[in-house]
Amino acid sequence: MARLSERATAGEIEEVRVRTLGRSGELTLLMRQLGGLAPEERRDAGRLLNEIKQQIEARLAELKIRLQQEALRRAVAEPPIDPTLPGLGIRRGRFHPLTVVLEQALDIFESMGFEVAETQDIEDDFHNFSALNFPPDHPAREMQDTFFLGGGLLLRTHTSNGQVRVMESRQPPLAVVCPGNCYRRDELSVRASPMFGQIEGFMVDRVGAVTLADLKGVLGEFLRAFFGPRTNLRFRASFFPFTEPSVEVDISCLLCAGAGCRVCKQSGWTEILGAGMIHHNVFRAVGYDPARWQGFAFGMGVERIALLKLGVDDLRLFFENDARFLGQFPAAGLERV
Ligand code: PHE
Repeated sequence: MARLSERATAGEIEEVRVRTLGRSGELTLLMRQLGGLAPEERRDAGRLLNEIKQQIEARLAELKIRLQQEALRRAVAEPPIDPTLPGLGIRRGRFHPLTVVLEQALDIFESMGFEVAETQDIEDDFHNFSALNFPPDHPAREMQDTFFLGGGLLLRTHTSNGQVRVMESRQPPLAVVCPGNCYRRDELSVRASPMFGQIEGFMVDRVGAVTLADLKGVLGEFLRAFFGPRTNLRFRASFFPFTEPSVEVDISCLLCAGAGCRVCKQSGWTEILGAGMIHHNVFRAVGYDPARWQGFAFGMGVERIALLKLGVDDLRLFFENDARFLGQFPAAGLERV
């Protein structure tokens, strides 16, 4: 008992209780031996042991009460909790609007039977240009102001390298979309960025099975699912080295639905993507016989469709990472990610 100080902890108090008064405690054992004593001895010893027991119990109770009082004093001394104060807001992260838009677009293509295949950002001249029917001195090569990396490598200027990568490693029929980042030597501005996303899409099957009409059908389905059921589209003749014929696709202006407004410069239409029938020379470059296979390809800018869908008028906002801007857009439809 002497070892139990004024500052004994609850654990130490309990330990002493077990050691003395517990079922096989020292005092308990002594009390059990009382039965073996002569009656007079038993009475005296019994009284003595009972006295000791009461003293121990009183002391333990006293120490316990002191502990409780101390705990109470400490709790009262602590700064009070004010339950009316606002809680600590935990800000949840969210997907970048470009990620949301990209995933929504890919979901639509997947629902139409396209598979998603990602290809590389760092490319060689063959996959970014030559196989896509750009001759060495073709002006389009300069048009696409390229970041050259040395060693014959470059940063891809479009996702059309995905057509070449997928076709050279697989056989038709194919229906594939290739999302990815592309790079051109452009200044960051309201409309352009040196890095931007594209979604390439293409379909290849036997000659006659996939036509320009199918291209229009697929794009129409996609654009109406993505921008809304009232979206119209039109084809304008255009040029790309890797498609023949080539078209540029316009959609009816989302703001004025074709009536003409400031955004569409009164035309009622907004340019949205490039497309066409895959050039025979592209098929030859990947080892497909153009007499057997036919297909279409299209490519669209991710930022471009995001600007239109979200009603944003400056592309730079997507890259500034201002949480006040980024937090405005719903992240709906991202269950996939
Ligand atoms: N690669 C073209 C571009 O970057 C887009 C495109 C893709 C056009 C496929 C036709 C077919 O502008």
